[in-house]
Amino acid sequence: MLTEQAENILRDNSRGDYTIPTDKLYPFQWNWDSCFCALGWGYFDEPRAWEELHALFRGQWDNGMLPHIIFHQNVDTYFPGPDVWKSNTDPATSGISQPPVAATMMRMLYAQCTDKEAAEKNIKTLLPKLFAFHKWYQVERGHDGLIATYHPWETGRDNSAEWEEALYKVPTDNLEPYQRRDTDLIAADERPPQKEYDHYLSLLQFLRNHNYQGQELRDTVPFKIADIGINSILLRAHRDLLWLAEHLGEHEYSAEIKTWITEMENAFDRMWCPKSQNYCSYDLVAEKHIPIETSGSFLAFYAGCVPEDKQETMLNTLEHWGEKVKFMLPSLNPEDQYFDQKRYWRGPVWPIVNFMVATGLKECRHHEHADRIGRDTCALLTEHGFQEYFNPLDGQGLGGDHFSWAAATWLFWAQDFS
Ligand code: DGY
Repeated sequence: MLTEQAENILRDNSRGDYTIPTDKLYPFQWNWDSCFCALGWGYFDEPRAWEELHALFRGQWDNGMLPHIIFHQNVDTYFPGPDVWKSNTDPATSGISQPPVAATMMRMLYAQCTDKEAAEKNIKTLLPKLFAFHKWYQVERGHDGLIATYHPWETGRDNSAEWEEALYKVPTDNLEPYQRRDTDLIAADERPPQKEYDHYLSLLQFLRNHNYQGQELRDTVPFKIADIGINSILLRAHRDLLWLAEHLGEHEYSAEIKTWITEMENAFDRMWCPKSQNYCSYDLVAEKHIPIETSGSFLAFYAGCVPEDKQETMLNTLEHWGEKVKFMLPSLNPEDQYFDQKRYWRGPVWPIVNFMVATGLKECRHHEHADRIGRDTCALLTEHGFQEYFNPLDGQGLGGDHFSWAAATWLFWAQDFS
């Protein structure tokens, strides 16, 4: 029943060969949403799953960047749209990227597909594009083995408390007038506050003035953070890209990918924050740790990068959080001063992060911790609907409804716990 409902959500949100996250609130193709959707589609329609990924890479830039939004068609219910980003590309896109889950989702999709021959054909076509995307991260955003992010929207965890200090230093003097659309559709206390939007938009203008790339931007961008989320996700994705390439006999990519992996592995421990006793994001402008623990901290397991001696400390923290909330995994430490059970990435549970963290925990053989997250995700989707995110204290569904990645997560993972 729920499975049928989840499949129907993907069908309803399908716009031909790509899937929008949900109608009106997010009416275009979003990068990481789309990759999770592909895995969901793979559960009941394999050709459609691969189409999703081909549609996503239609938005890739010449420099390899895979944008966070592809504006395949005009819809006026979302801000900021193509007229603000001014990408000067066809199709129009945003000018920043999003957590690079594509290689990992492709490897998982391949493992799940029954038609391996078709899957391999698709991967062969996508592989050079995927490689170019990973290379863009290394070349454009690499900083001695850490990867820099230039905008909170790029992390996917838009209003995480980690960004606040750096974001609020972005000057808003030249901010062009604008009108938000998200709060027409969703209660304002479930979305980032207005002040934050002013800084998001000012930063967007700054990036746009530099055509979103290049050395001058690297030297002057006011927001430059090694996000623990992006770094964990990319490191894992590099390994999955390497696996895909080698599995298909495309060995010409191997040496370069292996270099990236080694560089990132060697730098990873710089994100261990002694104060928090956890992995945290690192501010590359202020050159300091951001001592705020989020669900992103536990993506270090997904990166396969937590040394034995740190695992126990992190598991204790996880257990402590588990006593403070009914549903794991809150997006922010429930004892943090900024914790807000309803506001977007300041506390709510996000099913896709749960999937990634649980995957990492399981791979490190912490089955009990992984299963708690799996069971809680299943309970949320079963009892509170296919919502964008959830209140960790009472399970209330928040943000957009009829949500694609919630449906996809049910199909490819959460239903296993029912
Ligand atoms: C939004 O508009 O809320 C998105 O998360 C930015 O991509």
